[in-house]
Amino acid sequence: MCGIVAYTGKREAYPLILKGLKRLEYRGYDSAGIALVNQGIQVYKKMGKVAVLEDSLLGISLSSQTGIGHTRWATHGEPSDRNAHPHRSSNGKLAMVHNGIIENYALLKQELSNKGYQFDSDTDTEVLLKFIEDIHIHHAGSLEEAVRIALRRVVGAYVIIIVDEDDPETLIAARKGSPLVIGIGKGEHFLASDASPIIEYTKEVVYINDYEVAIVKPDELILKNLGNERITPFITQLDMELAAIEKGGFDHFMLKEIFEQPVSVYDCLRGRLDAQLGTIRMGGVDPHLDKLTNANRIIIIACGTSWHAGLVAEYVLEELCRIPVEVEYASEFRYRNPVIREGDVIIAISQSGETADTLVAIDMAKKQKAFIFGVVNVVGSSISRQSDAGAYTHAGPEIGVASTKAFTAQLVVLMMIALKVGYAKKSIDKVRFLHLINELNEVPEKINFILQSAENIQALAEKYKDARDFLYLGRGYNFPIALEGALKLKEISYIHAEGYPAAEMKHGPIALVDESLPVVFVATKDAYHEKIMSNAQEIKARKGKVLAVISEGDVEFISIADDVMVVPVADELIAPLLSVVPLQLLAYYIGLAKGLDVDKPRNLAKSVTVE
Ligand code: F6R
Repeated sequence: MCGIVAYTGKREAYPLILKGLKRLEYRGYDSAGIALVNQGIQVYKKMGKVAVLEDSLLGISLSSQTGIGHTRWATHGEPSDRNAHPHRSSNGKLAMVHNGIIENYALLKQELSNKGYQFDSDTDTEVLLKFIEDIHIHHAGSLEEAVRIALRRVVGAYVIIIVDEDDPETLIAARKGSPLVIGIGKGEHFLASDASPIIEYTKEVVYINDYEVAIVKPDELILKNLGNERITPFITQLDMELAAIEKGGFDHFMLKEIFEQPVSVYDCLRGRLDAQLGTIRMGGVDPHLDKLTNANRIIIIACGTSWHAGLVAEYVLEELCRIPVEVEYASEFRYRNPVIREGDVIIAISQSGETADTLVAIDMAKKQKAFIFGVVNVVGSSISRQSDAGAYTHAGPEIGVASTKAFTAQLVVLMMIALKVGYAKKSIDKVRFLHLINELNEVPEKINFILQSAENIQALAEKYKDARDFLYLGRGYNFPIALEGALKLKEISYIHAEGYPAAEMKHGPIALVDESLPVVFVATKDAYHEKIMSNAQEIKARKGKVLAVISEGDVEFISIADDVMVVPVADELIAPLLSVVPLQLLAYYIGLAKGLDVDKPRNLAKSVTVE
């Protein structure tokens, strides 16, 4: 939520920051703005996407070697020019960008108003900047000291970066709860919410931790804690290529990422699952396997699509490992008083590794001495660093706001863990273990097969794009896929869609069924296939349209359905990895047919770093 880029060095800051903001636009696109330091500070900001800001600046001379930029996902204050970042201090000497939420901003605003401060926006950011300004003028010698004093009083989450016209080459940055990476170049530094704006210039980065303040000059990076003690920056090497964050010939990141799944699933299996030897080795799991095999209970915490991966994992872990599993929305878990006992293991699932609710839920569970196991995509992210152990999903950067390849990679990691634990516990025998290893190994090829039917799915999208509502139904391992299919459609096409367990339909949602309602059945072959066929008959009997994801060769379902999307036959445990792919494509093509911006759906942002 909100993307931040900043630069200080010898290059022209504006084009570099603008390009960085475009890479970070997935984090929010309500407004964009830039502050450049050159004989004073010039601030340019506009409501809308980064391209709107860019257009507004055509023909203007913008020379500067130090600057900050921001792309916003609105929290406090509607999307507008005046609420766009950067914000300026009252005396105009400072400008600041912020990602996060200042929870006690109302109190601080009141204090500042009593002192005569005026506000030009409705944002918490402007309040924080003026609070820092006030401390700087009246109490602190240096700006960095003012920042430290101010942040000790702030409740909430933030990354801030400030420029000061009196110290034109210096950036002051600080973090708590939201992400910040600093790229180290020769005589230059790059700051950003993630590594994508930096990768082109340097692979040496420092991930800033909570309660750290960075004083960044072209030739120097000083890190301190809020108590003014120096911290040695820990430099890591980025393991990411520029090509991975570009569209590579596809019209949208979402389509590229859907089509990358044969490779991303393969990358996730690579070096871990050996079908010939019949083994699964996971560097982050093996040393802690006993924690999982001895677990009394596994609690999975996640949000959104990652929560759906958790639901599939619940079914798979209980089936293969015979350990009770609970799946919790991180946002609910953190605000109730959950019972966490010794022997409970928490699995936290997150693509970005920065989701605020998941992070806080982890923190809470850690305080109750739970063992935290992270399943995360972004290397070096906050959740990966907060976890006691974990496994990366290795799906590569996911830029499309709707999660696709990260979801399938999460499923693969969770299935491998379940297989390892089940086999170690002897709750599955060798024959089943080897069978499922082989099935997992075949997934990349099977996804390739599904992708070849993209054109057919596009035709279905044209046919159904004008529906007002959709119902998605599934049973067993495919029930979470019905939820995920409905979520994808909602996000990308703005069509109302509900996911439901197929059998539960008759307890309520069946009232919605008429000839205008497409009902998508996720109905690959499993032990109870005839049950879901009966549910489809019940929809047909009420004149609903039946659209189904089915296994290859399922002629019976073809005879019931109005339209089908076919996936290769697979073990029912593995089927979710396949049945989700046509639903991703369906959502993508419906969004496309409706002329929507599928990579940047309205109101959404990737990496939800606010509560
Ligand atoms: C949906 C989607 C979101 C995320 C959710 C959690 O397509 O992407 O629902 O799954 O915001 O994000 P992570 O996995 O980064 O914690």
